[in-house]
Amino acid sequence: MSIRIKLLLSYTGMLLISLLVFAMTASLFTIAATGDVHSLRDFYKVHYQLNPLTEQEESIFLELKYLAKNEPDRLQDQQLLKDFDFKLKTVRAGLYVRRESGRIYQSYTFNQPELGRHLPPYDLNNNQIRSTFNIGERFYAYAKYDFPYSDGQKGSVFVIRERSPFGEVTRKLLPAFVISLAGIIVIFNALLFRWITRSVVKPLDRLRHSAEHIQRGNLQFSLEPNTKDEIGQLNAAFENMRKRLQESVQLRLEDEANRKELISNISHDLRTPITNIKGYIEGIRDGVADTPEKMNKYVNIIYSKAVDLDKLVDELFLYSKLDLKQVPFTLVAVDIVDFLDDCIEEQRYVLEEKGVVIGWAHRPIPPVNVFADLEKIKRTVLNIIGNAQNYMDKEHKNIHISVHPEREWVTVEISDNGTGIPQEALPHIFERFYRAEASRNSSTGGSGLGLAIASQIIEGHGGRIWVESEVGVGTRVFFTLRRTTYEGGEGRHGRQHSDY
Ligand SMILES: Nc1ncnc2c1ncn2[C@@H]1O[C@H](COP(=O)(O)OP(=O)(O)OP(=O)(O)O)[C@@H](O)[C@H]1O
Ligand SMILES: [Mg+2]
Repeated sequence: MSIRIKLLLSYTGMLLISLLVFAMTASLFTIAATGDVHSLRDFYKVHYQLNPLTEQEESIFLELKYLAKNEPDRLQDQQLLKDFDFKLKTVRAGLYVRRESGRIYQSYTFNQPELGRHLPPYDLNNNQIRSTFNIGERFYAYAKYDFPYSDGQKGSVFVIRERSPFGEVTRKLLPAFVISLAGIIVIFNALLFRWITRSVVKPLDRLRHSAEHIQRGNLQFSLEPNTKDEIGQLNAAFENMRKRLQESVQLRLEDEANRKELISNISHDLRTPITNIKGYIEGIRDGVADTPEKMNKYVNIIYSKAVDLDKLVDELFLYSKLDLKQVPFTLVAVDIVDFLDDCIEEQRYVLEEKGVVIGWAHRPIPPVNVFADLEKIKRTVLNIIGNAQNYMDKEHKNIHISVHPEREWVTVEISDNGTGIPQEALPHIFERFYRAEASRNSSTGGSGLGLAIASQIIEGHGGRIWVESEVGVGTRVFFTLRRTTYEGGEGRHGRQHSDY
């Protein structure tokens, strides 16, 4: 059974019960106000049959009617009429008897001189025995009987009772009151039902529709929670779930696209050296290298291309492992100044051969201990220095290294006075396979993996890497490493393993 039907049943049940309670309360009130169950019956008789008299009055009226039918002339006997009037007076009613020739008897109960003129005309068919009339603001109810006297003259006998105007109005409007009160209850119930279905069933319906959308694989919709109640919270949780799902689907699609792009880049980059190698080998096979010098040159070229290929495969392998987070980082406490001293010494000779001067720009007093995976940080530094050396166009070629220790982090800066990187290329240089325009066709252009690898390594250390550059002036590459808490308290090259 759906919630809507359950609610409908419970509301209808409540409605019936309220109507029952309403009817019972009304009856109880009437009984309490009018005295007993008889008067309740009376009340309804009065009300629904337009019987204006009480039971006693009615029985006196019946006696009078009997007389009028059988012995009409006795209804001229003043004494008899007085007796009847007296009986009626005790039940707060009065008697009025008339005949065509004039009034016969009028009770003093009402003190109403106008009475005679307001009474209905003669009607021997007695079509309407009971009715009401008013004189000014006073209301009267009566029962009347028309009859002929023995001499043929028409006569009427009235039993009249005065009623309060308020009571009369209430009585007249009672059905309308009862119907409108019951109507109010019904309408109120209907409104409540609508409110509950709107605030419960509708949102649940929306939730079901959303679930169906997801089932069909459509995540491109949004479910706005418009209430703060439990259902609103449920909707919000559902919407959250949808967003997460959409994100993960999006991520999967991006991953897929990335993978395709990676494969196409790799194939492209591998093809160039392989085509070269193939070309030179074909040259040798076809006898183009016919002198030992030529042969030597060809073999050297093939060898250097093979080395390039090897380097490329090596970089690719490292990059993809770093990207998949498959490379463990063994962080140890290292004095970064000492470490960079070693790097500079190691590179100085190779660089000087190419006319590049490398040295410190700002060297703090060691030790400045950081957590680092030595092998990987070395790779990072060499990649940056390699770039500085590759993209150099000045006569005096300089590479400067600085270390800026801060409270928690140490920033290492490697700057050069090379070509610089165009502003529009800066946001992309850490992307894999990205090469800035200037170096694209030059022989210095690598595979575009150097900085991508460096950035993966620094991220793996929890640090940050960024570049500032100006075309024609030079480039400054910065990266940060976390300081150890033991700085100053240990010797150089202190090896402190850390597990984070
Ligand atoms: N110091 C620098 N001066 C000028 N341009 C630079 C410098 N460092 C990087 N670049 C630019 O950024 C690009 C990306 O550098 P990255 O090291 O990732 O790739 P690569 O040097 O082209 O190839 P790889 O390092 O894999 O051999 C370079 O192609 C170059 O255009
Ligand atoms: Mg590089």
